[in-house]
Amino acid sequence: MFDELAPTWETRIGPHHVAALSLALAELMPPARALDVGTGTGVAAQTVARRFTGAQVVGVDLAPAMAAQAKALLPAELASRVRFEVADASELPFDDGAFELVTLANMIPFFDELARVTAPAGAIVFSFSRGAETPIHVPAERLRRELRRRGFTLFADFSAGPSTALLARRR
Ligand SMILES: C[S@@+](CC[C@H](N)C(=O)[O-])C[C@H]1O[C@@H](n2cnc3c(N)ncnc32)[C@H](O)[C@@H]1O
Repeated sequence: MFDELAPTWETRIGPHHVAALSLALAELMPPARALDVGTGTGVAAQTVARRFTGAQVVGVDLAPAMAAQAKALLPAELASRVRFEVADASELPFDDGAFELVTLANMIPFFDELARVTAPAGAIVFSFSRGAETPIHVPAERLRRELRRRGFTLFADFSAGPSTALLARRR
């Protein structure tokens, strides 16, 4: 389905798409390596790269057309630090603890993989462009419950217009 949506995905993106995500990012120390899971056309990956100008950013998506569109839309000034790959969020092709920051925008969370690839002192940000009205939405209580089971202890909520985000850290 997302392969078919790829060419027109950005017409669905409103002004608040990553507003709450951006608020959450403002709370973090700069990561060296960041991963955006279910990146689509790469909006959140670009947001992370612009916020953290020293970070290497990878965006992954299961749909090849989305990854291709993300590459096509990547501005030249980010090309040396941002790359996109086709990969399955349920089986990420990265080492344990590979990323200090993992982001998801409007994406189904595969909790075991997220916890595995996040560095021991790392952070995950879950964001939803239209809060509970987002077609792919996971309530913050469920996110917290699943993450606590995997060692995350610090949480913070953000909202901006209709968008919401949850920041989770291990310590
Ligand atoms: C609702 S879209 C969000 C795209 C982007 N994060 C955004 O907010 O604009 C969900 C994305 O997750 C991708 N996706 C779905 N299941 C996936 C999986 N198992 N692994 C990786 N990506 C997946 C889809 O192809 C789609 O691009």
